[in-house]
Amino acid sequence: MSEKEQIEKRGTEARVGFGVENIRLSEDEKAVVILDQSQLPNETVYLRLEEAEDFYDAIYTLKVRGAPAIGIFAAYAIFVLSRRMLECGNDDYESFLAEFKKNKAYLDSSRPTAVNLSKMLRRMEAVVLAGKNHTIVEIVRALKEEAEKIQQEDIMMCRAIAEYGLTLVKDGDGILTHCNAGPLATSRYGTGLAPFFLGKEHGITLHAWIDETRPLLQGARLTAYELCQSGIDCTLICDNMASLVMREGKINACFVGCDRVAANGDTANKIGTSSIAILAQYYKIPFYVFCPSETVDFSCRTGADIEIEMRPAEEIKTKFFERAVAPAEVRCYNPAFDVTDHELITAIVTEKGICRSPYKKSLHRLLQKTE
Ligand code: MRU
Repeated sequence: MSEKEQIEKRGTEARVGFGVENIRLSEDEKAVVILDQSQLPNETVYLRLEEAEDFYDAIYTLKVRGAPAIGIFAAYAIFVLSRRMLECGNDDYESFLAEFKKNKAYLDSSRPTAVNLSKMLRRMEAVVLAGKNHTIVEIVRALKEEAEKIQQEDIMMCRAIAEYGLTLVKDGDGILTHCNAGPLATSRYGTGLAPFFLGKEHGITLHAWIDETRPLLQGARLTAYELCQSGIDCTLICDNMASLVMREGKINACFVGCDRVAANGDTANKIGTSSIAILAQYYKIPFYVFCPSETVDFSCRTGADIEIEMRPAEEIKTKFFERAVAPAEVRCYNPAFDVTDHELITAIVTEKGICRSPYKKSLHRLLQKTE
């Protein structure tokens, strides 16, 4: 289902910040309704999505984006597709499972870097596998419960991350942030932006310095939008101004989200994140990565094992510009993420606590795994 099937246009009345409803199951349970992030901040458009291709497209074209958000979205999406199977009379476990696996593989192939997408789909698959001796009606009901649980857990994780994050700052601090790790990218508080929202609740003022985040401008379009809507003090800068504002002493810490953390603490996040970390080390500014613990992927030994998504050249050359800003024939290189070396990271803030170097040990200890 495409834009023409937008079900609601609500001007700018959406509540962003503490209670944005960026992803929800439709009342008839036949669709997932999302706030289309690709149209923000200019238009607040909700899309009702029903088909596998629309789910894939919504993730690929960043209508829904941010590592935790795409995991939550995929969980609801695969529930909707499973429910449809039931409606179509598929009550045979083996054929239900085969179709489920096909949908799972398809959704999982939409974007490679954020581990949350595949982890949440695996959680949903585990429900189907555990239901082998149950009816398809029961399995589908359990799938809905699991998707809701994933979303509820994310709300709680973001809240805990916000609390840990607040211990790292003091009233009046200037914080540089890159991309968007706020409520739109998660549920409720966000991760890297969570301390701003909780700080506001507690009367602690943090000033956000927002990198615009070329080429898709998640900072300018989404972070600035969320913070302005919520009345949080912020200033937008171009990505190449970060060094200057750090040199001017305006930045006390850097807060970013992330898409996947390797076992040694190397961290994949939006392209440009590693440049900020390198600058922060030069200016002796702490650089913090925020994520739910599920973003840690122990199967990646180092950042070199993390697949970096490549995106189309148009995002650099023409998107967001009235006229092309580069010759049509120029070749582009458009990696969507980069990996920040663990040595540049002051701490990784999760809902279970704050990990510091050596990450190989601290991540394992905190997340209760054995080496
Ligand atoms: O390409 P995007 O916009 O999905 O990239 C998102 C990021 O890099 C975020 O920082 C990350 O997913 C963390 S969101 C809490």
